[in-house]
This record gives sequence, structure tokens and C-alpha cells, in this order.
Amino acid sequence: MNIVFLGPPGAGKGTQAVDLSRQFGIPHISTGDMLREAIKTGTELGRLARSYIDDGNLVPDQVAVDIIKERLRKEDARAGYILDGFPRTIPQAEMLEELLQEMGTALDRAIYLEASEKVIVERLSGRWICRECGKVFHIVNMPPRADGICDACGGELYQRPDDQPAAIRQRLQVYREKTADLIRWYADRGLLLRVPADIAREETYKKLQEIFSRYKVANEVS
Ligand code: AP5
Repeated sequence: MNIVFLGPPGAGKGTQAVDLSRQFGIPHISTGDMLREAIKTGTELGRLARSYIDDGNLVPDQVAVDIIKERLRKEDARAGYILDGFPRTIPQAEMLEELLQEMGTALDRAIYLEASEKVIVERLSGRWICRECGKVFHIVNMPPRADGICDACGGELYQRPDDQPAAIRQRLQVYREKTADLIRWYADRGLLLRVPADIAREETYKKLQEIFSRYKVANEVS
């Protein structure tokens, strides 16, 4: 079950992918998380990525592709994966298609999580994340039990630098210019499924669960 999650920043791709990954036993592969981890550990990749990410811009295509190439070759990705935040441009989608062909596999679906810009801005500006375990909260929609402290591990909660208003505006602009075209690109290949994401989190999850269950059964049979 090889799935791509498409959708604007803040649509809930990460939130949904974490739970689906746990339920269906396939890895959640987020290029954003991998780049933030590189920034945290201070690697060369992290230093390069920081200059793009904090301002809300995309890292160069080849950087993102190299990360994904290495990750998809790992053992745990053999039975499938959820790609979150990749591809983000048409050249990235073309490179992914080529890579999967070389590996003798293909995508099953590109799932587009649809949400309006108003909802997205509210979500991003209220998002808080645990510094230790990465769990995601929202100050109104999914508040932690104690202010500033992670329910799961007791770690400190922080706001991503790119969740500041100027960076959010830039990310939405970049999404419209570079990523939104992927919706048509995957629709033309018969791979696109649309799922509403500006409804309650549990409702979106139910719809995604149904889709994932169908593919799980199909993959087990084939
Ligand atoms: P990335 O980390 O991928 O950020 P993004 O696409 O902007 O997505 P987000 O993580 O902001 O949103 P999400 O959809 O996962 O929302 P979430 O579930 O957290 O990328 C960051 C940066 O890395 C990029 O800008 C770029 O610089 C770089 N990068 C990454 N990949 C790249 C690539 N392939 N090429 C080039 N550059 C790349 O939810 C948001 C909030 O809403 C949370 O607080 C959550 O609690 C809340 N929420 C979620 N669902 C609901 C709901 N249904 N109801 C109420 N609240 C909800």
C-alpha cells in the first residue's frame, strides 16, 4: 500500500498519517520531519534546509528527492508507506515515478486532503508540537491537558518558526504556485482521491481508514 498525501500546509496530513501508520503498520515518511530532524542535529543538510524552511520556501527538488531515495530503500518501506510532504512539485513527482519504476513498484493512490485557506491559517497559527516526541496539538482544537506540556511524554511544547504569520503566507503562496498543480497531475494518471479535511479530525480519519482498508485487502489478495 503505497500512498501519497497531498494537500496544503495545515490540512492535517501529519496528524492523520501518524494514526494511520500505527493502525496499518506502514511507515509515515515526512520530508518535513526529516528536514527538521536534520536541523535539530545540526547536520550539513540541516544548515542548508533551515535557510529555506524558516521563511516558508521549498528546499531544492534534488535535496528532497535524495532524502526520499534513501528512505524508500529501507527495509520497513517494503510493505508500503505514507508519503507526507513529498512530492511537492511536478519535477519531484516525475522523479518519484522514475524511482518507483526502477524499484519495480508504483503508487496505489494520491490522497488529496482538502481544506479551505481560512481553516488552514487557524490551524497553523494554533499548532504546538512536542520538542521531545513530536506529538502535535492545537491550542483550541486539540489542547494539551497542561499548558505548554506534552500529554504523551511531558516534553516542552513549541511553535514551529514557519508557523509565524509571514511564513504561513509564504507557504500558502508556494503551495499555490508549485504544489497545487500536482492535483491535476495525479488526477490525469487516475490516482487521485479527494478527502474532505476541514471537518472534525475523526470524520476525516474514518474516510481514510475505509480507503486504507480497501488497499490493505487488495494487496493481501494480490
Ligand atoms: P512540512 O512539514 O511538510 O509542512 P507542510 O506541508 O507545510 O505541512 P504541515 O506540517 O504544516 O501541515 P499538516 O498538513 O501536516 O498539518 P498538521 O497535521 O500538523 O514541510 C515544512 C517545510 O519543509 C516546507 O515548507 C519546505 O521548506 C520543506 N519541505 C518539506 N518537504 C519538502 C519537499 N518535498 N520539497 C521541498 N521542500 C520540502 O495539522 C495542523 C494543525 O491543525 C495541528 O495543530 C493539528 O492539531 C490541527 N488539526 C489537524 N487536523 C484537524 C482537524 N480535522 N480539526 C481541527 N484541527 C486539526
